[in-house]
Amino acid sequence: MKNDLPLEARSLNVIFAGHVDHGKSTLIGRILWETDSIPKEKKETVIAYCKKNNIDFEYAFLLDSLAEERSQNITIDVSEVHFFYGKRRFRIIDAPGHLEFLKNMISGAAKADCAVLVIDVSAGIGEQTKRHALILSLLGIKQIVIAMNKFDLVNYDRQTYERLSTECKSLFKKLGLDSLSIVPLSAKAGENIIGRSQRFSWYDGGSLLEVLLGLESSDSAECSPLRLPIQDVYRFDNRRLLAGRIESGKIECGELVCFFPSGKKSRIKAIHHWPAESSPLKVTAGKSTAIQIEDEIFIERGEIIAHEDSPPLVGTDFCARLFWLGDSPLIVGAPYTFRLATGQSVARVLQVNRVIDACTLEDLQPVPMEVKKNEIAEIILRTSAPIACDPFEKIPMTGRFILADKDRISGGGIILKVLPSKAVHETQGRSRITQLQRAKFLGHRSGVFWMTGLSGSGKTTLSNRLEQLLFHRGIFAYVIDGDELRTGLSKDLGFDVESRRENIRRAAEMAKTLAKSGLVVIVALISPFEADRKNARAICEKEGILFKEIYVDAPLDICKARDPKFLYLKASKGEIPQMTGLDSPYEPPQYCDLHLLTGSESIESCLGKLLDFIIPLVRLTPDKERDILEDPAAEI
Ligand code: ADX
Repeated sequence: MKNDLPLEARSLNVIFAGHVDHGKSTLIGRILWETDSIPKEKKETVIAYCKKNNIDFEYAFLLDSLAEERSQNITIDVSEVHFFYGKRRFRIIDAPGHLEFLKNMISGAAKADCAVLVIDVSAGIGEQTKRHALILSLLGIKQIVIAMNKFDLVNYDRQTYERLSTECKSLFKKLGLDSLSIVPLSAKAGENIIGRSQRFSWYDGGSLLEVLLGLESSDSAECSPLRLPIQDVYRFDNRRLLAGRIESGKIECGELVCFFPSGKKSRIKAIHHWPAESSPLKVTAGKSTAIQIEDEIFIERGEIIAHEDSPPLVGTDFCARLFWLGDSPLIVGAPYTFRLATGQSVARVLQVNRVIDACTLEDLQPVPMEVKKNEIAEIILRTSAPIACDPFEKIPMTGRFILADKDRISGGGIILKVLPSKAVHETQGRSRITQLQRAKFLGHRSGVFWMTGLSGSGKTTLSNRLEQLLFHRGIFAYVIDGDELRTGLSKDLGFDVESRRENIRRAAEMAKTLAKSGLVVIVALISPFEADRKNARAICEKEGILFKEIYVDAPLDICKARDPKFLYLKASKGEIPQMTGLDSPYEPPQYCDLHLLTGSESIESCLGKLLDFIIPLVRLTPDKERDILEDPAAEI
């Protein structure tokens, strides 16, 4: 459905971003003043205040005074500040700090059609500007206007405009945004804000408001496809009513609708308005309603009603952008409660593709395996049952979700795309015993603790002692050791790169299976290559198995000196080819969950660290029980 309304009839949500010192508040104040959007008494109060205190009037004070009202909880909310220009309504979304701003955007408190990024020409493009540009790109805001402010300080100089324009264009191009309007102006002097200013005789574009007037607003909720998430199903004297709020589009009596994710269909028999007793023929976005359908089909809360020709996407695997607020980090493979519209499911993160620190906006390298508080991540998420949703860009209301950790909302995210989920059904749901049942039976949850390190670094010694110590603490542990594996399951393999890869894969599959049975599995393999260890992690985490990598780190010289199996000696005589550390490389982990310096620390101290690390992760306290949610696919 296309929005046929002319541009000027559609209101525009504008985000104002930029450092305060760059004149953002002055610009907003000036716009509100000149478009006559400030109540008269407010203007007078600010003018009187300035006079009384003998200070020059500043447009920024107008905004401050509105903000103050908000903090005192009186009438105006700053995020609700708006102005009219050329008959069009502009809603200003102010971005106080970028953390705040991100939270609002991702949680859906704000939806921007475009952004005005304020840059002080006398200061140029700084770190702040770069951060704001990155945020705008992360949020998928495509229409960006650069307000080059404070031209009065540089004598309305054309060269400054050209130089900074080139810099801005290249900055935004790197972020994949290449349509940019760059307006030179002075908020303080009021030049080029409403009308065009003579000061910029060399500039042939529009004033700031003229440019904003020409921007597209996203389709209004009413013009978007129908999305009616079902909140409740009621029975009233033999009538069954499906109640919910129309998030977008409209619904009409008599039309055929589909339910997602189930795919069921029926016709609308009647529409009831809530709470009035009238029965309208048509209801539009933003309204709560209760509908009656013709067929007696089983429909539950969480389904989304849509039209057959513009359905939502249905799947279990999603690529999403997430903002994490939880005190404890988001762990790959751990279960979280996933809520989207009225639907709920259990979800696990399969993969973390990118993590950005929301405070510094740095891309974290190497990509961490967990997402900490105030980090933004691009993740692949899998829900335990199919859900219906939309890419956020298309329909925001059904494109955003929340992740809760033990009933506490810990993160908010937006759906970027739905992925084909071919692997899901191959592996899930065979067992009729849930992970929680197994964990309760054994008194601990399972996991794979993968020890990597050179031959002679202490993997076997540590893992055998660890197995024993855990066992005596009531934790059922088992060691998969390289030497043992190579005399059995992997006895056909050698030590070339390919063979080692296959050896690691087999060990990972075996560890995964044992962990699925409920055991704490300790793997002691040289596993010299980063890519193979990553693959082992993926094999386990893909099925929700806790996986931790432990680097047993002793310098090669020490390993050679220890040489418990005389391998280094034999290798130096040419009896063992491709010996790790000599003529075959060892790639130390770029990231590990626990680092043990076995060259300098005692075995006892390392064992202490291992126990301190593993026990809290697996011990099943009543609180931890909630960590392992029931797998809805399993029958009890
Ligand atoms: S891995 O590289 O595939 O992870 P794994 O840990 O299974 O190796 O096997 C290592 C064991 O195999 C060593 O403890 C040693 O006893 C034996 N071994 C025989 N040849 C080699 C070699 N070329 N490099 C390393 N270990 C070897």
